[in-house]
Amino acid sequence: MTPRENFGSRATVIMAMAGSAIGLGNIWRFPFIVGEYGGAAFIMVYIVCCFLLSMPILLSETIIGRRTHQGTFGAMNTLAPGSAWKWLGLLTIFSPLIILSYYSVVGGWSFAYLCKAISFQFKPENAESVTSMFGAFSSSTWAPLACMVIFLGLTALIVYLGVNKGIEKFSKISIPVLFVLIVIIAVYSITLPGAGEGVKYLIKPDFSKLTPGAYASALGQSFFSLSLGVGTMLTYASYVNKNENIIASAGGTAFFDLLFAILAGFAVMPAVFAAGITPSSGPGLVFETLPFIFAKMGAGGQIISVTVSILFFLTILVAALSSSISMMEVGVAYLVEEKKVSRHKATISLFLITLVVGILCSLSFGTLSDIKLFGLTIFNFCDRLASNFLMTVGALLFSVFVGWKMDKAAVKDELTNGGTLKSSSKLFPFVYFLIKYVAPVTIAVIFILGFIG
Ligand code: PHE
Repeated sequence: MTPRENFGSRATVIMAMAGSAIGLGNIWRFPFIVGEYGGAAFIMVYIVCCFLLSMPILLSETIIGRRTHQGTFGAMNTLAPGSAWKWLGLLTIFSPLIILSYYSVVGGWSFAYLCKAISFQFKPENAESVTSMFGAFSSSTWAPLACMVIFLGLTALIVYLGVNKGIEKFSKISIPVLFVLIVIIAVYSITLPGAGEGVKYLIKPDFSKLTPGAYASALGQSFFSLSLGVGTMLTYASYVNKNENIIASAGGTAFFDLLFAILAGFAVMPAVFAAGITPSSGPGLVFETLPFIFAKMGAGGQIISVTVSILFFLTILVAALSSSISMMEVGVAYLVEEKKVSRHKATISLFLITLVVGILCSLSFGTLSDIKLFGLTIFNFCDRLASNFLMTVGALLFSVFVGWKMDKAAVKDELTNGGTLKSSSKLFPFVYFLIKYVAPVTIAVIFILGFIG
């Protein structure tokens, strides 16, 4: 049997994990939620939430993955053989595939919009029609499907190349590139006339907007943004070698994810305000509002705005790809390790499965828009199911597993590399307290409150 691959260094671990974390969540949801819930006041809540609730989950997944060097199912079976915990292993193979199915639809749109930007379709004379262009495009049948196949195909190709030649290489190049791109776009956006209001929207603290909903949104957003509760971080951690300081790499990942989200805020919102538009989130923001802005700013044939629109959609595409590969890797690791299928076959099978669900998600914007599950279209149903339910339940169970099922000595051993890491040893009591009590209790309360209403 070929030896299991490992990430090469601390930097690669952080780049791969940050690659999974940085994605659509940072670009199309974070900037909007920040403004909606009180700017800097929300950012403070978000940071506290990241470090007190999301970090313990990230560490729980990392502990399980690195301890066993196995994917989700194998890891659970090794640490709790013959127990019901194997269902958590199975659940977390299924969840990322659901996310991948609808995420690929959006990945496909990003590819399509990159092509539109390159072919100068966002022109001043088109400005008004640019917004309606998205509705027409997403509800059509073939073009979005073709773009989704390309996106999913690229994802499968990178995953097929393996952990070192595919995922590691791609993340090492894409993460620095993404940071450079988002800084360029932010500088452009902030220097537009009238951008000041957008900057204010992001940084002016308004504590009156910190409603209970703000806390639930901060938690949901930080789980989605850090790819938690669905086994992706666990699987990536299974490729981390035994000498690595996992508190440091988890901290680095959370830091870069947060930094990118804030930069994305400055890339998006000032431009939205400069154009005098009411901010929104989701597809509307990225595929309607921003192309409209690019088109308007292009008045006078400015080459700069065309360039920025190309860079913007390239950023979205690359960020989405670096996340989608982590979703596919979870299932591939399972098939290769547990079912002894070749990486080649595993990748193709998952490509086909997600393609089928992805087609349904894509068509739910047009031909299948009448099909409703619990009152939601197929696309929205998959999104809700994954981000409101599967991620939270998965995250909760991972922290319960590490805090209550695993042996405390084993957890300590893993976090401190057998006691050799002095700083981690000092932090251990605090981190363990977060994993065992703070995270599960708070997440359960927020989850239940969310259900009640
Ligand atoms: N973190 C990714 C984003 O912000 C989404 C994601 C969710 C990736 C779950 C992997 C697993 O877009």
